[in-house]
Amino acid sequence: MSLDELSFRLRSTFRLSLPAFKRTVPFEALNLPGPARERVERLRESHDLSAWSRCCNVQDWRESLYALDVLSRLLPPSLPEGRGLEVGAKNGSMLPGFVTAVKRGCDAVELDAHRRYLWGSTRRVYGEAMARVFPDCRFIAGDVRSLEGPWSVVTWWLPFLTATPLEAWGLPSRFLAPLELLTHVCSRVVPGGVVFIVNQGEAEHELQGRLFREAGLDAQSLGKIESVLSPFIKPRFGWLWRRSSG
Ligand SMILES: C[S@@+](CC[C@H](N)C(=O)[O-])C[C@H]1O[C@@H](n2cnc3c(N)ncnc32)[C@H](O)[C@@H]1O
Repeated sequence: MSLDELSFRLRSTFRLSLPAFKRTVPFEALNLPGPARERVERLRESHDLSAWSRCCNVQDWRESLYALDVLSRLLPPSLPEGRGLEVGAKNGSMLPGFVTAVKRGCDAVELDAHRRYLWGSTRRVYGEAMARVFPDCRFIAGDVRSLEGPWSVVTWWLPFLTATPLEAWGLPSRFLAPLELLTHVCSRVVPGGVVFIVNQGEAEHELQGRLFREAGLDAQSLGKIESVLSPFIKPRFGWLWRRSSG
């Protein structure tokens, strides 16, 4: 048994966690540079961010503002009724951005939810605390393949497409199943619903395109995703797949 497999099994067995200790801050604590601040002011005019200061630390604000900026520009303006899903939601740090952009109840699923921080709390308690702040939202510890949906809008930031990032995140190789995961998620999307995927780097973007084609799904490349609110250094690229409504 590999070390990654052993430690994944151990943390999935010993799940007890200390509570989520978090230093939540108001938007004003962010100290954003000019263009980013202007963009956030516009987002605050069009979206209700009032709950965020109850659940976001500085990192959550940065990731969620980035998510809100990108999703509010790149998702179709009209979506069918139904729940949202964020795949690979880590500790729920992007959930405020997602929920605020899609304005509906959302599920956030994370396979490695029992991963523990140095101070003894797990991702799960952070994700659950985040989900509790927003009506009709859930943080689910588990494999997205165990969920049946249906969903009308799915976001998927940085799926594992190759072994290297999966290993870097300390996950066992059996979880490398990009085509199966993509097929599972897309098959649970309602007519007219969408799957929005962001990949890191051009090579991954191309690989994602190949997976869509292998799955027989006609997705649209969104090209490079720019955002003045991006806290990330490496370039990111997007795909949007929409289930036909007829
Ligand atoms: C590269 S990380 C990206 C995390 C986060 N979306 C972000 O952008 O920072 C991929 C995440 O997907 C999760 N993941 C991988 N396979 C999964 C699965 N089958 N079901 C749910 N989550 C999964 C991993 O545990 C990890 O947290």
